[in-house]
Amino acid sequence: MRERASSDALLAWYDRHARQMPWRVSPADRAAGVLPDPYRVWLSEVMLQQTTVAAVKDYFERFTRLWPTVGDLAAARDEDVMAAWAGLGYYARARNLLKCARVVVAEHDGIFPKTRMGLQSLPGIGPYTSAAISAIAYDLPEAVVDGNVERVMARLHAIETPLPTAKPELTALADETTPNARPGDYAQAVMDLGATICTPKNPACGICPWRDPCRARAAGITAELPRKLPKPVKPTRHGIAYVARRTDGAWLLERRPESGLLGGMLGWPGSAWNDAPEDAPPLEASWADPGLEVRHTFTHFHLKLAVRTAHISAEIEPDSAQFIPHEAFRPTDLPTVMRKVFDLARSSFESD
Ligand code: ADE
Repeated sequence: MRERASSDALLAWYDRHARQMPWRVSPADRAAGVLPDPYRVWLSEVMLQQTTVAAVKDYFERFTRLWPTVGDLAAARDEDVMAAWAGLGYYARARNLLKCARVVVAEHDGIFPKTRMGLQSLPGIGPYTSAAISAIAYDLPEAVVDGNVERVMARLHAIETPLPTAKPELTALADETTPNARPGDYAQAVMDLGATICTPKNPACGICPWRDPCRARAAGITAELPRKLPKPVKPTRHGIAYVARRTDGAWLLERRPESGLLGGMLGWPGSAWNDAPEDAPPLEASWADPGLEVRHTFTHFHLKLAVRTAHISAEIEPDSAQFIPHEAFRPTDLPTVMRKVFDLARSSFESD
């Protein structure tokens, strides 16, 4: 009979190969009694959703430098947090992050709850994040199931059901494999295994601590798993973005409404995004069409944004947007799609 996948084998591998991350307590430090800071675990896990470890590192360092504790974050100004998040995407996560910090401070004395139910009562914390905090910060035997773990489980048990149908089955298998000893290290070990050895393409099965119990490997179907249902085709929407600069150098920007896409973020005023957008200039001016188009892909659609530019004389005041002085304008505060608009449009203002 094939041997069972043992958490000991995986943990022994993790003890030697754990990746270093700014929010992580190494297995050696943890064995010596160092406890992870739940605030840092929570922050990193929220940042890591739909984003890679490499992309998150700089953001994490910046956030924890600006706001070292959950109390500091709770006291931050909304626009500063949104600006620090700019470029990470999924801006509802940033809005919930701030809400969550404020609830933890106001209702939990600044301490993250120690149960999954308690954690899930907080804004922006769902099954994944509650499991991750429980396991990694509090060392509770909760199965943490992200895309990496799904792939590892699908291969280890040769599950041919396609994703996302297979999710409950893979979660149950992850549950069964989770040990009572060192569950926090174990959760991170499975994620590291998926990120470094059991990779989507060209997995390094020869050096995998679970090569013997792996059923996909035995059946020669590792590269085919996990199977996936075809993704729905994304529609393309169109829009117009208006970039205006005043003679004193100020840029015309608007803060987007709290709810909806890019909610709470700074951006260029614009039309609706649909099949055939109507012109919607934020103020009367002689708008030029420099023939520029920005392309950006969101979760559910592709966007093609036409760019219009205008030079504005000093006296005009817009209704909803605001002029931001050149010295106060940081393009890095913009979400990526708005940053792309600026990068294209700025050449139209180079002589200013
Ligand atoms: N992906 C999400 N959270 C992670 C973690 N704590 N370690 C490694 N990869 C992760």
